[in-house]
Amino acid sequence: MNELSVGDVPVIVAPMAGGPSTPALVVAAAAAGALGFLAAGYKSVEIMAGEIAAVRDSTDHFGVNVFVPDDSPVDRAAIERYRDRLRPEAERYGVELPEIRWADDDHWSEKISMLIADPVPWVSFTFGVPDSATIRDLKRAGSQVLVTVTDPDEAELAFDSGADGVIAQSGSAGGHSSTTNPALYRGDTTTLDLVAEIRFRVPLPVVAAGGIASRQDLEAVLDTRAFAVQVGTHFLKAVEAGTRPTQREAMGDPRFAETVVTRAFTGRPARALRNRFTDTFSDSAPLGYPAIHHLTAPIRAAAGAQGDPHGINLWAGAGFGYARDGTTAEILASLIG
Ligand SMILES: Cc1cc2nc3c(=O)[nH]c(=O)nc-3n(C[C@H](O)[C@H](O)[C@H](O)COP(=O)(O)O)c2cc1C
Repeated sequence: MNELSVGDVPVIVAPMAGGPSTPALVVAAAAAGALGFLAAGYKSVEIMAGEIAAVRDSTDHFGVNVFVPDDSPVDRAAIERYRDRLRPEAERYGVELPEIRWADDDHWSEKISMLIADPVPWVSFTFGVPDSATIRDLKRAGSQVLVTVTDPDEAELAFDSGADGVIAQSGSAGGHSSTTNPALYRGDTTTLDLVAEIRFRVPLPVVAAGGIASRQDLEAVLDTRAFAVQVGTHFLKAVEAGTRPTQREAMGDPRFAETVVTRAFTGRPARALRNRFTDTFSDSAPLGYPAIHHLTAPIRAAAGAQGDPHGINLWAGAGFGYARDGTTAEILASLIG
């Protein structure tokens, strides 16, 4: 098995699309000895390129994370019905629901072309396993490629596609699951078990992700011979993160005491703080990413602008209660002791 190292400290500060991952967070991670990833998801190629340039002003130790397009068939009638059920929410926040946008590949080809033409040290993927030609071209360009997986079968696909390593994302992880089987996803795997199962199945270096919130957690997963951990939620309250104030406050508010796996916001399972929106829609929301992501976007934007934590996707992992305020360096220090 080839050896991989993410640097002096075996911690990846997770890519967190939707605001939290900023160039400042990535630069701060590198300065503290960890590896940070820019989150290219939801962004244009121009914005991705601008963020890469901003990071390169300070460091060459970083990665870029890209969403693999999901073109699995969806139940269009169910999504239309969900649009009708969302009307009262739109009225509550004074917004119009958009027409349903069925196709969106998040500028996949343009992003991959740019990353091949102007390579970065690390590229990671979520929401699926890229084709082997894409991975081969990125590796030839000089990048090390990680693929996020949620079970041993996906790890085997990543191995077959030529990935340098996998990020084993367990059910306790905050934000979207990378699962390729969203209909069956329950979010009930543990990080320790998942790393062990994947290491048993494929001879690839493994990064462990999900619910890592303390030095003890970190040591326990490194003991399973993961070569690094990827931590998201624990850095959401970092000074350098772009996390919205409403989310920062909710994470310390006793009214938000638990997380749930929900597809209510985007049509793809994600772990979030339980709020009014998840209580109202989690049971009835169909699958359908990214159509539902676009459908709920105006509601989430308006709720965010009004500072209402009950109408936004408060992505957070099961260990959110341990997240603390501080600089990235301080938060990292609390993990590595
Ligand atoms: C707010 C938020 C946004 C996320 N966005 C992304 C993303 O854009 N790409 C990605 O690969 N993973 C994303 N993730 C998942 C992380 O990469 C990682 O799997 C997860 O944070 C690990 O679990 P933890 O949150 O318990 O530390 C996100 C997680 C959070 C909390």
